[in-house]
Amino acid sequence: MTQVIAVHSFRGGTGKSNLTANIAATMARQGKRVGIIDTDIQSPGIHVLFGLNEAKINYSLNDYLWERCNIKDAVHDVSYILTTGDTDVINGKLYLIPSSIKAGDIARVLREGYDVVRLNDGFQELSRCLNLDYLLIDTHPGLNEETLLSIGISNILVVILRPDSQDFQGTAVTIDVARKLKVPKMLLVVNKVLSAFDFADLQKQIETTYQASVAGILPLSEEMVQLGSKEIFCLRYPEHPINQTIIGIVEQIADAA
Ligand SMILES: Nc1ncnc2c1ncn2[C@@H]1O[C@H](COP(=O)(O)OP(=O)(O)OP(=O)(O)O)[C@@H](O)[C@H]1O
Ligand SMILES: [Mg+2]
Repeated sequence: MTQVIAVHSFRGGTGKSNLTANIAATMARQGKRVGIIDTDIQSPGIHVLFGLNEAKINYSLNDYLWERCNIKDAVHDVSYILTTGDTDVINGKLYLIPSSIKAGDIARVLREGYDVVRLNDGFQELSRCLNLDYLLIDTHPGLNEETLLSIGISNILVVILRPDSQDFQGTAVTIDVARKLKVPKMLLVVNKVLSAFDFADLQKQIETTYQASVAGILPLSEEMVQLGSKEIFCLRYPEHPINQTIIGIVEQIADAA
């Protein structure tokens, strides 16, 4: 059965899209069949990490939601990015369902919204027809109808936060909502933490505050800033220590599944 994993944060710019792409690429390199769906229809972005642009996106999630195509037509097989060396043999698969980057399409979503029931049907259909081990949902920050749906149907919710008082307060709201929606498993990831912090102490504090497990703490990384979402960090710098933390998060997702 496909495990549905929603990656969410109450506030924007916490690192959802980058973390989603890194988790998905790590899983696929380990041989899993992984899909990513970009439900951030108002401000899509994860396609950039996979080198997709408007010209390369044939059908998007928007086309499916507006009944212009089947969900399968909006699937982009991006498994080719997984190979980091000539001798690499990758058995996993990585698929991306991007949202439209066309201004008119974004304006239409803001004006008219869309049918969340059809979105949910799309999740089910994708899981089935691509025979996925994991379906990762990259979300829009904050709580709106589609993020509530994504949270509500997920087997595992990954909530990202930075060590920032605004994030702390917003995360409490997200966790409260997720508990009311009876999400089976919740994992926290703290991102952009200054290296000078005591990571073990921060983990203890956050776990005590939210009564939820911290799956990983990622440092604020100059290399990641420099990479600027042009590529997927774990594929660009496979030997970087940050990847051990990402592998740890993937292991905890697998354990929770
Ligand atoms: N650990 C990190 N260290 C440094 N920069 C990071 C780190 N994680 C993410 N970033 C950078 O932060 C910015 C925002 O990341 P990203 O787009 O993944 O966040 P997001 O939560 O998806 O944002 P949005 O809410 O707008 O969708 C990007 O420039 C990314 O490169
Ligand atoms: Mg994003």
